[in-house]
This record gives sequence, C-alpha cells and structure tokens, in this order.
Amino acid sequence: MLVDIHNHILPGLDDGPKSIEEAVLLATNAVDNGITHIIATPHHHNGRYINSPSIVIEAVAKLNKELLKKDIPVKILPGQEVYFYNSILEDLENDLLTLANSGKYLLIELPRNHFPISTFETLYQIQLRGYTPIIVHPERNTVLRKDKQKIYDLVNKGSLVQITASTLIGLQGRNLKKYTIDLLKHNLVHFISSDAHHYVNRPFLLNDAYQHVRKKFSENQVTYYNENAKHVILGTGFQPMLPISFK
Ligand SMILES: [Fe+2]
Repeated sequence: MLVDIHNHILPGLDDGPKSIEEAVLLATNAVDNGITHIIATPHHHNGRYINSPSIVIEAVAKLNKELLKKDIPVKILPGQEVYFYNSILEDLENDLLTLANSGKYLLIELPRNHFPISTFETLYQIQLRGYTPIIVHPERNTVLRKDKQKIYDLVNKGSLVQITASTLIGLQGRNLKKYTIDLLKHNLVHFISSDAHHYVNRPFLLNDAYQHVRKKFSENQVTYYNENAKHVILGTGFQPMLPISFK
C-alpha cells in the first residue's frame, strides 16, 4: 500500500486535469509510481477555487468508476487543500473535508508571501476541536523559507508538515532542495507527497522522492513517511519523530 495525500487529480475542479481523460492519465502515472491510494485534495478557498465537500465526494465517485472501468488499480479518496482563510474555524464542521473523510487530518495551505499573525492561534483552535493540521509545502512560504525555526515551533505545537516530492529531488532548484533536506534532518517532515497536477508537467514523482530518501537517509525513513500517510487514511494517530530545534 503506497499513499499520496496531496494532489489535484480530480478533473475540472481546479488547476488540475481539465478532463476525465487527463485525470485517467494522471492516475496511470500514479500507478507507475507504485501508488495504490490517492487522497484527492482540490484547492478550497484559495481565492480562485471553492470545492465544498459534496462536490469533491461526487467527483471522487465519478473518477473511481472510470478507473474501475479502465482497470486502473488505484483508489481515489476525498480531501481538500484548505487555504488559510478567515472563516476556517467557522467552516470546520460543515464546509471542510478531512483527508480521506476520516475526521482527523486537515490539509492546510498558508499564504505564499506572509505568515498570518493568527496562524498559531488558529492552528491551536483547530486542534482543540479534535483535528490535526498538516501544513503543506512550507518551502513555498517566503517567511518559513527564511525562518526554519518557525516550522519547528509549528511542529512543536502539534502541527504536521508535508513537503513536495519534486522539491526534494531538486526540480525547484538547489536551494529549495537543500531547504527540504534540512527539514528532513530536523525531523520536521511527516509526509512527502506529489502535489501532482498534470501527467506531464506536474506528475507524481513519489517514487523518485522515496528513492532519494532511501539513498540519502534510510529505508526506515521511507517506511516512516508511508506509514504516516496510511494513518491519514485510517484517521488514526501516530507518534512523530522528535523534532530537532535549529537553535
Ligand atoms: Fe496542492
């Protein structure tokens, strides 16, 4: 069982595949990466797209049906990539989808160019309500890029972190690659996922990323990331590795 917890595979909902045919090609690319379970996470409230739970669940059912028909052995599960927007706490119970709809993990995208003053408080409130926030690709936030200790603080206060496969293998440049490896070394990464959007331009690459971790770190580390992702599907908790401070 190999799980991807962050991607845009559902057709026509956001900047992912434009058609069901493109979505099927992207699913085939996932299978080529050895992936068996895909949690589809279309953008939600990012200023461009709104994808409420019912829309996502319906699109997932439709794509699963198509994959079954075409004999493509991968299962799609519902989720959202929730942008850090104003009424996130108010919408938590009725307009936000936990990953795999398991009631526990929430994928959160912070703004790119700043770190909202309310971040820590909101993430705390989310946890008080019984959810675990997973911060996606911190490597894309300009503040977190300059201040890795802030990521340590987020993790220390109970959030989890997901980095993108393509960044880890260097496709976003050498600096960002080094940055994600630093996070790995400080036990500040809990998930590696694809953020796949397109079967050619932004494919899964999970296999390459895990291969990189296998070579530079260990097989155990690869197992750790995939086991964590399995917990996300089940909605069960796990003991993350102890984060290491940069100070
Ligand atoms: Fe994404």
